[in-house]
Order: sequence, then C-alpha cells, then structure tokens
Amino acid sequence: MSAVQSYEVSVQFSDGDIAVFPVTSNETILEGALKADVPILNQCQSGSCGSCVAVLEDGEATPLATQAGCLLDSELAEGRRLLCSARAFSDCSFQVDYTTSAGAATPAAANVFIDEIAWLSSDVVRLGVELAEGDWADFSPGQYMRINIPNTEIYRSYSMSSSPEQLPKLEFLVRVIPGGLFSEFLSTKARVDDILKLEGPYGSFFWRENFRRSKHLLIAGGTGLAPLLSILDQIRAAPGKKPDITLSFGCASDKTFFGADILDLRKAWMPTLETRLTVDDAGESWSGLIGNPLQAISTDDIESDAVAYVCGPPGLVNSSKKVLSDFGMSESRIFAERFLPE
Ligand SMILES: Cc1cc2nc3c(=O)[nH]c(=O)nc-3n(C[C@H](O)[C@H](O)[C@H](O)COP(=O)(O)OP(=O)(O)OC[C@H]3O[C@@H](n4cnc5c(N)ncnc54)[C@H](O)[C@@H]3O)c2cc1C
Ligand code: FES
Repeated sequence: MSAVQSYEVSVQFSDGDIAVFPVTSNETILEGALKADVPILNQCQSGSCGSCVAVLEDGEATPLATQAGCLLDSELAEGRRLLCSARAFSDCSFQVDYTTSAGAATPAAANVFIDEIAWLSSDVVRLGVELAEGDWADFSPGQYMRINIPNTEIYRSYSMSSSPEQLPKLEFLVRVIPGGLFSEFLSTKARVDDILKLEGPYGSFFWRENFRRSKHLLIAGGTGLAPLLSILDQIRAAPGKKPDITLSFGCASDKTFFGADILDLRKAWMPTLETRLTVDDAGESWSGLIGNPLQAISTDDIESDAVAYVCGPPGLVNSSKKVLSDFGMSESRIFAERFLPE
C-alpha cells in the first residue's frame, strides 16, 4: 500500500483572493478545502450537480475513476475539474469564477407554504411558495433550492424563477415527468397551504454582476427558463442602463410550449430584451421558429464582450457550450447549468 502524500492546493477566487490549503492523496480536493474552511460552492458531493467546478491552472488533479461526474471530455481537457470528485497528484492551483463571499453563503433549511400550483402547459407547473414567518432563504438569481418530498428523506433540485427582490415569495417552474417522485407529488398530492421543507441556496450558476453592462445571451430549454427569468428580473431591478439581451427559449413542441405571456411582460418592461421562441415539433398555428433554441443563435449575436447563460437539458447545454466557443466566446464568459436527473 502506498504512503499517504500531502500536497498544497491553492484556489484563486474572482475577486483575486487566494486560499491555500493542504490536501492528502486519500481525500478529494473538496474535502481538503472544506476542512480548511475554504468557501468552495458545493452540494451533491458526488459529481452530479456541477456546483464545485474549478479550472486547473497548474499541477495534476485527476477525476476519481468511481465517479463519472457531469463534465464533458472536452471540459476535462480544458482543465475543468469537479473538486468533489478529484484528487491531487501534485501541488495544484485552481481558479473559480465566483468571489469568496459568494462561496461563503451558507445553505440553510426553511419551511414554506405553498401559495400557487398553476399549470402553464400540459407538463409544466409554476409552484409559488412563501417563506414561513421567521425563516429566510437569500439567494443569487440563477441558483437553486433542494425541495423535500413530504414524508420522505428525498429531495429534488429546482431553480428559482423568481428574483431575490420577490422574497419572502419564491417561484419555481417544474416539468412534470410521468412516474417522477416529485412530479407525482406535485401533480397529485400537493395543495395550496401545504408546508414544504427547502434547503439552499445552491449552485455556481448565477448572474455575474461584474458583467452587467455586457451583451447578454440567454439560452433555455423547457423549465431551464426558470433561472433565466430570475436573472432577467434581477437585471431589471438593478440600477443603471440595461444591457442588450437576446433570450432564445425553446420547448419540444407547440403543444407543450409555455411562457409566451411571461416573456411578453418582460419585453414590455425591458425594451433591450429580444426573444426568440422555438419548438422542435410545430403544428400549423405555431408562429415562432422551428428547431432548438441554439439553432436560433448565430455568430451575428456574439459581441466581443458578450456573456452567455445557458440552462436546460444536458444535450442542449453541452452543444450550446461547444457552439458558443466555436463562435469565439471565451469559456470564462459562458455560464451553464444542466438539469440532470438525481
Ligand atoms: C441543479 C439542478 C436544478 C434543477 N432545476 C430544475 C427546475 O428548475 N425545473 C425542473 O423542472 N427541473 C429541475 N431540475 C431537475 C429536477 O431536480 C428533477 O430531477 C426532475 O424534476 C425530476 O424529478 P422527479 O422526482 O419528478 O423524477 P425522478 O423520480 O427523479 O425521476 C423519474 C424518472 O424520470 C427521469 N428523469 C428525471 N429527471 C429528468 C429530466 N430532467 N429529463 C428527463 N428525464 C428525467 C429519471 O431518470 C427517472 O427515470 C434540476 C436539476 C438540477 C440538478
Ligand atoms: S458538489 Fe461537486 S458536482 Fe456536486
């Protein structure tokens, strides 16, 4: 059996702060960071949520063979690592694209009352809740909460579609999947005034205020629209001139399409917002675009300072990241969240 080695790992945050901590060869880099109180965003600790992603700048850090992780081979080749699923094999340095204070925001548990269960289409529900008195749950627009399925120990992740300005109310957009545990609870058992337990906030997918003046490119598939609505509402609430925003949003078919009224309202509020609506499968009455939301984006939409936020099914997110970098966007300006099953 080989002896346990100790290495020095450094993580640079986007505000320039650098944390240095020891990691042994028999623990993950995240375990070493958390022992040393280094504020690395994380949630699942099993390689599936993507929150703990960092870019390896120097040294050797290898993904655990036992955890596939949610990164693509191309992302691994670019140096991206999930710190919960990687071990150091030398001294290493990493960069993360959030500040120390964002990393230090501690998730908390809260009780909420359901105040709305509204079907927006045949398979999308808007779940509106209000925090119970005395409970609080702050978050950055784009982040998600874990919602408990009552009378079980099971949680599912859902991104807020509301913005922090709307607290103590929170809203979520949930795609109801036949046979899914939370989906079945929401569509058959949940009632207005029921109490739900939440934990959060989680996730490194959130609006970066330092890019607030840049052209924003938002790409969403299905309920991946939720965190982008939260980001849009935060941009609207922020002081100063609004950036140009192109939102390309698509659903599988015109029969399951939802949210046109929600987006029309945002356009009325924010003249700098342009929307492109797409469906893969369209009937005769569909007046939008046909295809997926990525196909509605071209190089003409990319300005040199553009920043992109992409959310939805893993296939859409993976191809968007590839196409946007092929269009010349820097990886460091493409923020993405994949709605992976747990
Ligand atoms: C960070 C994060 C944020 C998320 N935010 C949202 C959100 O805002 N809105 C939202 O609707 N979902 C979101 N999801 C997905 C959500 O957490 C659940 O996975 C999803 O709602 C299914 O839960 P369920 O309990 O109903 O189904 P489960 O009991 O988990 O699954 C039932 C079956 O459906 C399959 N399945 C599960 N999820 C999907 C899927 N997305 N597409 C296709 N098949 C699936 C499973 O593999 C399984 O076979 C998010 C996921 C992550 C990781
Ligand atoms: S905490 Fe590492 S992927 Fe979830």
